[in-house]
Amino acid sequence: MTTKTSTPRTSTTTRTAVVTGATSGLGQAAAIALAARGYRVLIVGRDQVRGQATVSTIRGAGGQAELVLGDLMTIAGAEAVAAEILRIAPSIDLLINNAGGAFGRDERTDDGLERTFALNVLAPFILTEALIEPLAAARGRVVNVVTAVPNGAKTTIDAIAGEKASAGMGSYVRNKLALLTLTIEEQRRFEARGVSFVSLHPGVIPGTRFGSDSPGIFMKIGPVIARLIGITSTLDEAAERFVHVGSDEVVGGGFYYEGKLRPAPRQAQDPAFAAELRSALAGMVA
Ligand SMILES: NC(=O)c1ccc[n+]([C@@H]2O[C@H](COP(=O)([O-])OP(=O)(O)OC[C@H]3O[C@@H](n4cnc5c(N)ncnc54)[C@H](OP(=O)(O)O)[C@@H]3O)[C@@H](O)[C@H]2O)c1
Repeated sequence: MTTKTSTPRTSTTTRTAVVTGATSGLGQAAAIALAARGYRVLIVGRDQVRGQATVSTIRGAGGQAELVLGDLMTIAGAEAVAAEILRIAPSIDLLINNAGGAFGRDERTDDGLERTFALNVLAPFILTEALIEPLAAARGRVVNVVTAVPNGAKTTIDAIAGEKASAGMGSYVRNKLALLTLTIEEQRRFEARGVSFVSLHPGVIPGTRFGSDSPGIFMKIGPVIARLIGITSTLDEAAERFVHVGSDEVVGGGFYYEGKLRPAPRQAQDPAFAAELRSALAGMVA
């Protein structure tokens, strides 16, 4: 799981990176950092103004960027984003499934799914499966952005995707646990195609729009406590982590945070749960 490779995946031609949620926060910082390193970056977001501003920033610095507009909260929206990327990118070196977050209110998507699950788990699944051919063409990497999921965290598929699934920080952690599980399952499934998968916890970075839908108290005291106990990172530090895990330096279904590849939480390593999760996700989009 934590082996290093000495075989370069990339050629001398321009590398392509797809970054979801690149219209603000960590995704935007990562997109700018990747463009500065010569990647052509596809900026995926739902906000035209913020998206165009990100593209202009990158182009203004001499980089290459294009905007792919779409709402990843619905199955149709995620599929439309994937179709547009397939049209303009025959080869993808890096897919960063970064769009995500926590929600304070229980609301359903047009597909009847709880929003935390739709955005943090189902959308990455749809994009990865749809883009596997261009990823394989480049022997690419998929980075799924998670959070600091405790080793003993547990979930069921019903708890995140069933009728009683709810919003909140507990739901956020359960959904990121599911995304960690999916990352390992995708590594098992697609490593023979030369595609590698890593889950990244980017650190605690106050000042993004993360949690802006959550009830005030957590969002107000969370960053203060994080700063007091000295566990915050800057946007630049987070962007460097994205570039690092997107490179050849780490491979293979790992869970990367605090500068190291670490074992994923126990449940994420359970092949039976992973198979059940993948089958449930595939059933939702069939
Ligand atoms: N900040 C932290 O401390 C922290 C810590 C651990 C993990 N993370 C994870 O890091 C990732 C980025 O978080 P962030 O802090 O940068 O938050 P953010 O500022 O809220 O950025 C989230 C991005 O996702 C996009 N997005 C949200 N809903 C979308 C949708 N339905 N369709 C398409 N795009 C959508 C947003 O686009 P709009 O511009 O349209 O809103 C925005 O660009 C998330 O997965 C989060 O869970 C963050």
